[in-house]
Amino acid sequence: MVMKYLDITGVGIEFDTNGTKFRALQNVNLKLDQGEFVSLIGHSGCGKSTVLNIVAGLHQATEGGVVLEGTQVTDPGPDRAVVFQNHSLMPWLSVYENVELAVNQVFKKTKSKAERREWIEHNLQLVNMDHAQNKLPGEISGGMKQRVGIARCLAMQPKVLLMDEPFGALDALTRAHLQDSLMSIQAELGNTVIMITHDVDEAVLLSDRIVMMTNGPAATIGEILPVNLPRPRDRLALAEDPKFVHLRQQVLEFLYAKHSNPADKEKNDTTEVAAVLEPMPSTNLSANTEDSNETEAA
Ligand SMILES: Nc1ncnc2c1ncn2[C@@H]1O[C@H](COP(=O)(O)OP(=O)(O)OP(=O)(O)O)[C@@H](O)[C@H]1O
Ligand SMILES: [Mg+2]
Repeated sequence: MVMKYLDITGVGIEFDTNGTKFRALQNVNLKLDQGEFVSLIGHSGCGKSTVLNIVAGLHQATEGGVVLEGTQVTDPGPDRAVVFQNHSLMPWLSVYENVELAVNQVFKKTKSKAERREWIEHNLQLVNMDHAQNKLPGEISGGMKQRVGIARCLAMQPKVLLMDEPFGALDALTRAHLQDSLMSIQAELGNTVIMITHDVDEAVLLSDRIVMMTNGPAATIGEILPVNLPRPRDRLALAEDPKFVHLRQQVLEFLYAKHSNPADKEKNDTTEVAAVLEPMPSTNLSANTEDSNETEAA
């Protein structure tokens, strides 16, 4: 068997909650090349975050496992940086210090203090946050915090960037702006990325492949859709591109026709139908809006 850069093989997990067993995932198989951008999409509760957490080493698979560049994943490590949905910055540290914390973890022994400072500033520049490096998280917006979270992860030079709905809590304009930034950063740095999203257009716009998950329990990968759209990608040009429209239609069909959300069957389904019929950019499956921005200290 040929090993890929990142190999997720036969992964299953059973959670034990107060003696009750719950099988969340079953036989998940996914192989990524270096530099590939893969999105995970599926209905709420199907197990996307659980897959990501297993790759991050935050959860242990009950069966199967994850191998990154020939090494089995057993614990969290700086080679797999995670961007969480709710920006997880340390509220008492400045923007600069938040990135510094991660940089020191990885480069304390190999870069001098001056080199580290330059590297931190470089990564803050990549996400256009160098102007706010002395601010505290409580003093910047949700989108800005998310930028810092991304800079912090990029600065660790991880082998794999794991993003759990990184733009889910942002308004549509900020989200579009950050998606464009992420595309240009990835084009420049060649990061290997797994990103969870609820947003069909985001998945098609950013990904090389879209991994569509079935509903749980015992969720698994239903279909994998290759996105062979040339890069760099321009959102405005693509909105009218028949190939783009066809790809997003395939994702929508998977989610609403082949694997509709079991919870939706119990209610009058007009909202879901409306979501399918609406044009861009309203194909975000979740009803998230801009967060209140000031909650991450909790
Ligand atoms: N630590 C845990 N203990 C018990 N059950 C868990 C645990 N973590 C997740 N689950 C269950 O596993 C299933 C998958 O959860 P997961 O968070 O991976 O879903 P998700 O696809 O990320 O959902 P969402 O889109 O809402 O974030 C859910 O039924 C959830 O309740
Ligand atoms: Mg999740």
